[in-house]
Amino acid sequence: MSRSPWPLQQDGLLFRDPVESDIAALQSFRNDASVNHFMVHTHVDPDELRRDWLSMTDNPTEYSCVVDRDGDVVAMGFLDVVDGSGQPGHPTGTDGLIGYIVDPRVAGQGIGTATARALLRAAFDGLGLRRVTAGANADNIASVTVLERAGMRKERHAVRALWHRELGWLDEVEYALLDEEWRARTS
Ligand SMILES: CC(C)(COP(=O)(O)OP(=O)(O)OC[C@H]1O[C@@H](n2cnc3c(N)ncnc32)[C@H](O)[C@@H]1OP(=O)(O)O)[C@@H](O)C(=O)NCCC(=O)NCCS
Repeated sequence: MSRSPWPLQQDGLLFRDPVESDIAALQSFRNDASVNHFMVHTHVDPDELRRDWLSMTDNPTEYSCVVDRDGDVVAMGFLDVVDGSGQPGHPTGTDGLIGYIVDPRVAGQGIGTATARALLRAAFDGLGLRRVTAGANADNIASVTVLERAGMRKERHAVRALWHRELGWLDEVEYALLDEEWRARTS
């Protein structure tokens, strides 16, 4: 049985599971050049996107969402449950990784920040995760702004750590938040 943390409504947006009629809108901006400039996974095959997004609700580790503003798909949010390579007995299913892409036609309207906040709420309040991280190219100022506004804590600046097909080796920043930090902020 799915334990999807969606739907969730906040900041004037509806965060929900994807359905077939969302796919064309997601495909219309996922491979935009301004998006791919900042993504580790650059071009995504449109059929693969359809398959991945429509099988999301069957996958026990993927809780990505569509961001809907008054019936229009304006962004996609990524929320994966990930396991570290720990020692025997290492707890599983406790950590999350978030990400987001806003349709460039509606960028700069606060949708990225609202999506990061919703992903954190889904991860901590919905899925009961312990720790959530997010990574970005260090020069992705918009994404870094989003992560800081969402209240995440910078943990790492890794020098020339990330390979990008077009840009070569890039610096990467990583942000994190623990459930107790989330609870202290929201209580
Ligand atoms: C990063 C992204 C999600 C931001 O979404 P958004 O809806 O535009 O974000 P917000 O409006 O909430 O906030 C972005 C802030 O960064 C600012 N910003 C954007 N580009 C900037 C730049 N090049 N330099 C400085 N600030 C910048 C915006 O002006 C805004 O701040 P403001 O509200 O003070 O004006 C969106 O640009 C995107 O999808 N980019 C491509 C994919 C991507 O990078 N995803 C993240 C991968 S880690």
